[in-house]
Amino acid sequence: MDNTAIDIDNISFSYGRLQVIDNLSLAIPKGVSFGFLGPNGSGKTTLIRLMVGLLKPKSGNVLCFGEPPVPANAKNIGYMPQLPSLYNELTVRQNIDFFAKIYGLKNRQQRMQRVEEVIKLVDLQSKRNVSINQLSGGMKQRVSLGCAIVHQPPLLFLDEPTVGLDPDLRAHFWEHFTSLTQTGTTLIISSHTMDDAAHCQQLIFLREGRIIALGSPNELRAATGKPDATLEEAFLHFIRSQEEQANVR
Ligand SMILES: Nc1ncnc2c1ncn2[C@@H]1O[C@H](COP(=O)(O)OP(=O)(O)OP(=O)(O)O)[C@@H](O)[C@H]1O
Ligand SMILES: [Mg+2]
Repeated sequence: MDNTAIDIDNISFSYGRLQVIDNLSLAIPKGVSFGFLGPNGSGKTTLIRLMVGLLKPKSGNVLCFGEPPVPANAKNIGYMPQLPSLYNELTVRQNIDFFAKIYGLKNRQQRMQRVEEVIKLVDLQSKRNVSINQLSGGMKQRVSLGCAIVHQPPLLFLDEPTVGLDPDLRAHFWEHFTSLTQTGTTLIISSHTMDDAAHCQQLIFLREGRIIALGSPNELRAATGKPDATLEEAFLHFIRSQEEQANVR
């Protein structure tokens, strides 16, 4: 049985003349939590949009579960965009219910039950009948996560899901993410925080649309040669090595 969730074969992408993804290849196995780290503008969001099929590579191929990704056909995929894309006039419950319908939860009874479960999971019971435009930024973020996971997809893309969350809720989210991967969900998550990175089983460091390092948090930290190196130090180590190589050439 093929154990690959995502297979990226030598893709490049540019916005006009700006090359954003540069001959990138990556295979992501099923059932792992896979983190994308990199500075602002390094291409994390673009890469996620290429993987969900919202952008097409200029060259190379992306396969999700062996098929080219088609957004309209996304029952297998959950996608939480970096900026919440919600219906501001609708309530928390109505938004999550809307996405549940789109993702094919047809049975009304089961859908209502699942929507309530998700509201509880993102800890918004007291706001369930409040419209989105009356929520705080972090609360909108939580609704957006609820919308992405409501149909329990086997492949979940979360673009900076923990931005704006308080530490308590961030820990609660990670408990949930870990339980999802334990039941076979593949989780792809972009982040700037080393706290998120430390929770991921595998990581890539991205820089200018290229992968400069790939491995588990421990492997990346060990690559610095310092036994007590942090992930932040590991990231800087790989940036420096890449710069040294560029100077040698
Ligand atoms: N719609 C667009 N049109 C033109 N250029 C874009 C567009 N979206 C992104 N870019 C450019 O592509 C590059 C990569 O952007 P991207 O959003 O993928 O980075 P990112 O790693 O997600 O950054 P951040 O950490 O800030 O979210 C940046 O130089 C950005 O300015
Ligand atoms: Mg981004």
